[in-house]
Amino acid sequence: MEQTTYDFGMIGLGVMGRNFLLNIADHGFAVSGYDNDPEKVAALDKEGSEHPAKGFNTVEDFVANLAVPRKIMLLVPAGKIVDAVIEELLPLLDTNDLIIDGGNSYFADTDRRMKYLADKKINFLGIGVSGGEKGARFGPSLMPGGKKEAYEIVRPMLEAAAAKVNDEPCVAYLGTGSAGHYVKMVHNGIEYGIMQLIAEAYDLLKRGLGLDNQEIHKVFEKWNAGELQSFLVEITADIFKQPDMELGEGFLVDKILDKAKQKGTGKWTSQSAMDMGVPIPTIDMAVSMRFISALKDERTAAAEMLVSETKENKEDKKLVEAEIGNALHFAMIITYAQGLALLKEATKEFNYGLDLAEVAKIWRGGCIIRAKLLEDITAAFRHNHDLPNLMMDDHLSKVLLQQYLDAVEVNKLGLQMSIPVPAMATAIGYFDAYRSKRLPSNLTQAQRDYFGAHTYERTDKEGIFHTEWNQSS
Ligand code: 6PG
Repeated sequence: MEQTTYDFGMIGLGVMGRNFLLNIADHGFAVSGYDNDPEKVAALDKEGSEHPAKGFNTVEDFVANLAVPRKIMLLVPAGKIVDAVIEELLPLLDTNDLIIDGGNSYFADTDRRMKYLADKKINFLGIGVSGGEKGARFGPSLMPGGKKEAYEIVRPMLEAAAAKVNDEPCVAYLGTGSAGHYVKMVHNGIEYGIMQLIAEAYDLLKRGLGLDNQEIHKVFEKWNAGELQSFLVEITADIFKQPDMELGEGFLVDKILDKAKQKGTGKWTSQSAMDMGVPIPTIDMAVSMRFISALKDERTAAAEMLVSETKENKEDKKLVEAEIGNALHFAMIITYAQGLALLKEATKEFNYGLDLAEVAKIWRGGCIIRAKLLEDITAAFRHNHDLPNLMMDDHLSKVLLQQYLDAVEVNKLGLQMSIPVPAMATAIGYFDAYRSKRLPSNLTQAQRDYFGAHTYERTDKEGIFHTEWNQSS
């Protein structure tokens, strides 16, 4: 359908960009797109033939055909390309036009760009988009940050396009500056954590209990029908029934090389948490496990050399299977708790003005970490907006305590059988450390003072103390 002005424009017409545009168009908005690859422009024209949707081959024509104030979203690879596209656009824009960066941009880059564009009187929003290709087409979770007035310009379109849970859109204004991209980064950190936990559960079912792919498929399917219900558990169930079309026999999952790649968002989450002194060990471990997975050659050599005796599982398989499910649920709660504790600190550090109940609410649908559990998490922060940690919620604390011993048993099983369960172990360690009134950190302080005169505080009186250790007789 030909139009002269379009309500919403997209730069970057890869599958995500095209799908998101068609999603907006489904809700009655006229949309247009630009890409420097003519094939992608043609693909938009083809896929959008039923909609008021048009692809442009030059950025000038694209900008000239947008209704003012222009609303232009970028879905291009994070990094220098975002800056290059902004520079290309700037001479063509007018005051109050709006640029939206919908990629997985590093939050500090978003703050820099927002300031740069504000000086030029151009509005800018950083929006985290989650849900992959299908999400973009039929309802993603959207995490917007920037100036509230800029959000209001596109609110109707974003609310229309976002996933819905109980008729509520999975989008909400989250906060100032890079709030949206920061929340998306932490979303991905949690995603890494949960994916690693699921991988450990798989290893326990496979090597620990000796289940085959069909049996593992059934276990995940069952889990997905209960309290573990989530997008990641659901797709995991599907993965175990996928045949290997290449060979014509066996299952695809067994043919995939065990080296996990990453684009960096999980690592940024850990780096930012370290910078602020927020412990998120399960997420850190998930990032490290991707690095360990990459050491395939070293692992192969070590498997020959570092051989030890291991115990066999002698427990009832069904019982252990249920314990693994509980351990996974326990560790999933802990992973969300760590991610949300990081957001709690980040909102203080960067003055984002985040409401964690809103964050949890928009994660309930559309995104990769959507899960039944997020209903409880939303309720926990609605009930107490100042909750120090999710583990302290009345309801979730009870669930954690109920599942704690199963998590410990499953961890023991992994250790005894030399099946690595480091993310599950860190979840238990985090929980135990958080609930320890007295940690052995008194000894750490004593050591620091012993070798470096770093001083210490006392439990019985105020002040800073130093001791000349090993000199008293
Ligand atoms: C999403 C995903 C998406 C992407 C990840 C993959 O929310 O839709 O998180 O952003 O698939 O960035 O990350 P890695 O390549 O680092 O695993």
